Amino acid sequence: MAVSESPWWRDAVVYQVYPRSFADADGDGIGDLAGLRDRLDYLAELGVDAIWLTPFYPSPLHDGGYDVADYCDVDPRLGSLAGFDAMLADARERGIKVIVDIVPNHCSCEHPLFQAALKAGPGSPERDLFLFRPGRGPDGAQPPNNWPSTFGGPAWDRLPDGDWYLHLFDSSQPDFNWHHPDVVALFERVIRFWLDRGVAGLRIDVAHGIFKDPALPDVPAPVINHAPSPYYHRPENQALFRSWRAILDSYPVAGFPGARTAIGEVWYDKEATLLPYLAPGGLPQVFNFDLITAPWDATAIRAAIDATDAISNGSQAPWVLGNHDVVRPVTRFGVRQARAAALLQLALPGSAYIYQGEELGLPEVLDIPAQARQDPTFRRTGGARLGRDGCRVPLPWSAGGPSYGFSRTGPASPPAPWLPQPTGWGSYSVEAQSADPGSYLSVYREALRIRRSHPALGTGVPGDGSGLRWIDDAVDGPAPAGVLHFRREPGFEFFANLGPVPLPIPPHQEVLLASDPAIQGHSVSVPPATAVWLSV
Ligand code: NOJ
Repeated sequence: MAVSESPWWRDAVVYQVYPRSFADADGDGIGDLAGLRDRLDYLAELGVDAIWLTPFYPSPLHDGGYDVADYCDVDPRLGSLAGFDAMLADARERGIKVIVDIVPNHCSCEHPLFQAALKAGPGSPERDLFLFRPGRGPDGAQPPNNWPSTFGGPAWDRLPDGDWYLHLFDSSQPDFNWHHPDVVALFERVIRFWLDRGVAGLRIDVAHGIFKDPALPDVPAPVINHAPSPYYHRPENQALFRSWRAILDSYPVAGFPGARTAIGEVWYDKEATLLPYLAPGGLPQVFNFDLITAPWDATAIRAAIDATDAISNGSQAPWVLGNHDVVRPVTRFGVRQARAAALLQLALPGSAYIYQGEELGLPEVLDIPAQARQDPTFRRTGGARLGRDGCRVPLPWSAGGPSYGFSRTGPASPPAPWLPQPTGWGSYSVEAQSADPGSYLSVYREALRIRRSHPALGTGVPGDGSGLRWIDDAVDGPAPAGVLHFRREPGFEFFANLGPVPLPIPPHQEVLLASDPAIQGHSVSVPPATAVWLSV
């Protein structure tokens, strides 16, 4: 098969790195690119094909770096462009591709373009790059419309000069006016800047929100949902993505890193909303969040898999269990359940994204003190929503010691990590889990090893039943409720018990892997909240 017919990203396992919480090489309590570089061997051993780096650009960090002050540089706290290049080169040496985050919906209020717009005043051409408007009401004291911010409160803030500006997120994140050609040109430059440096792809932040209805009309109900609206899922987004696809496709496919991809962060209300993003010639991929939104229920999960299968496959819409914006799977589903979910995710056709720490079974940290919380959601909702800090706590690398090995320093104790780690965090550490064949980490490593070599996994063998076929017949009679059982060719079956009682293992030749390490070749049943990979 020609290289171009089977781009690497179709069945890639991509590991999401949240750099400030991954590893800290310079010992300032904030993870950095040098820390990531130091730990590339860990990722190579885990067996991932690529990493997606969330923003590491200069930023006042009002929203974890998604408030970008310079799209073409590295935040000095995280390193430098030279450090980025060194990390990229080392990743390449290990066969690991790098995907960077592009944040086109908004920038930071500290971005020079927004600063210039503030200075230039109402009615200036500088303000046309953003969405500035006069207010409503006799003295303009009412916001221009009733749109809500995703982080709570209204999506508009007023300046002392009387103008209002739109921010779908924090007030420190002004939305760009994408109908302005300079904004289009800016992002073309940004995209080429990173592709020219050798990255394999782009993750597109808020890909469903970029264009706004220029009339900025009121919405019927000012609550955030992911249905099409004057600010979400505008048809103009698709033409933009086609132009970006042309840029991606202009880079050589042969050699490393291969065909360039872009994956859109598109939150949707139903599959039909996702359809336009999957049209040929647009973004190569969009995230599939169905396993994030589904409850731990066999019927719901099967429906989610079928719904995605009907419009795409996991290649165009990679499977995701968690990311830096949602409660960790262990806390959403339960410890045993999340391990079973990982085996499900990695057995589904197509590509899968793993968020750092998922492979360690990290739970959401729920008891971060209010004064340590950083997510603007917490502040903007007066604490009613805890926000996303609980899934962003710095990783534990060592079983003990200061910051559990997160900050590497000399003899001096490093400062506390930027978000506090809970007591006992070391029991989840890479060190604590590496030697234990039954650990969470060992299950992930083994799953990725098998996935790489088994012909039925990943995208599978084209034309050989590479999708999945549900098996509804139980060993004795009709399928019990609470079962997920499917087959992929050649000779692979996935079986998960989501019900309350143990179930017999279906006939098989070998148990390749089980989410419960107690299950061995001689086991006859699968306990609740457990998944097995079978050779049949
Ligand atoms: C989605 C990102 O994943 C999230 O972390 C961020 O807060 C918003 N977009 C705004 O950029």
